[in-house]
Amino acid sequence: MICLGIESTAHTFGVGIVDEKARILANEKDSHTTVEGGLIPREMADHHFRVAPEVVRRALAKAGLGWEDIGLVSFSQGPGIGQSLRVGAVAARALAMKHGKPLIGVNHCVAHIEIGRALTGCKDPLVVYFSGANTQILGFESGRYRVYGETLDIGVGNLLDAFGRAMGLGFPAGPKIDEMYFHARQYLELPYSVKGMDLHFSGLQTAAEGLVGKVDATDLAYSVMHTAFAMLTEVTERALAHTEKKELLLGGGVAASKALRKMLGEMCQGRGVRMFVPETSVCVDNGAMIAWLGLLAHQSGGMRQDLAETAIRPKERADDVEVTWLGNKYKGLTA
Ligand code: FE2
Repeated sequence: MICLGIESTAHTFGVGIVDEKARILANEKDSHTTVEGGLIPREMADHHFRVAPEVVRRALAKAGLGWEDIGLVSFSQGPGIGQSLRVGAVAARALAMKHGKPLIGVNHCVAHIEIGRALTGCKDPLVVYFSGANTQILGFESGRYRVYGETLDIGVGNLLDAFGRAMGLGFPAGPKIDEMYFHARQYLELPYSVKGMDLHFSGLQTAAEGLVGKVDATDLAYSVMHTAFAMLTEVTERALAHTEKKELLLGGGVAASKALRKMLGEMCQGRGVRMFVPETSVCVDNGAMIAWLGLLAHQSGGMRQDLAETAIRPKERADDVEVTWLGNKYKGLTA
């Protein structure tokens, strides 16, 4: 079976086509960006609405397939921004009904995990998922991906983007700040906020924005990243110690950061843990991961498969989802 998956949780409208061996036949996308100001939900939805037909067409052309070859349509049901999610859901429903295909809504965070597992070959990893809106440390235990630690306010990507805007770097600022990380001369002390296994980034954001223009820009960029990533590394290390997992899988757009990979990589090396980083095209939001999770969930009878159950779920968490496709495979699972 071949699945066409639609991603539209935030600024990216993506369409991926994947087969049962996790071979990515197409992974097309169009992302909404702005030069200044934040990402406005209505503008993102307008963007998705405008580009949807063309991205679907491009994905099928890239895969060299027609609708007769597609056996399943999947889409990101949540979590995400309501207006953006709704465009993907409507597109998926319309295509499934028009072409007579089964339809399945899947969880975006779990999709990041599963595409990472499929493409890197890791089996039972602790997962660090960090993007604009999300920052979570997850792992499989007792039939679900449990959340061991997470941000209590903004995602680490939003921190870097907001800071980047204050520095006049535009959006997305992450790659530019990441470059600055390796050229700084000194660390400037900034608020470090870990509460148990959870994180806060908004205090760090406020302090950093207040220093823009008053201290060396490169030193400040380095210090913001180093503080945020040290917080993440601390919580990740504690989760590894608690779960005794021997693999670490990175996912989400911030996984592309060389600075972050360096810090987490050094921690893993010290603990004898293997770190897995999927290539950036599947770390960022993309349709291929939605297609792959669609196949896994559909074939194991999981998630929502009736049209009536395909309403969007903007607040759905990874740990709301029953992981039907892993069965009894890993430790900790109760029958
Ligand atoms: Fe994401």
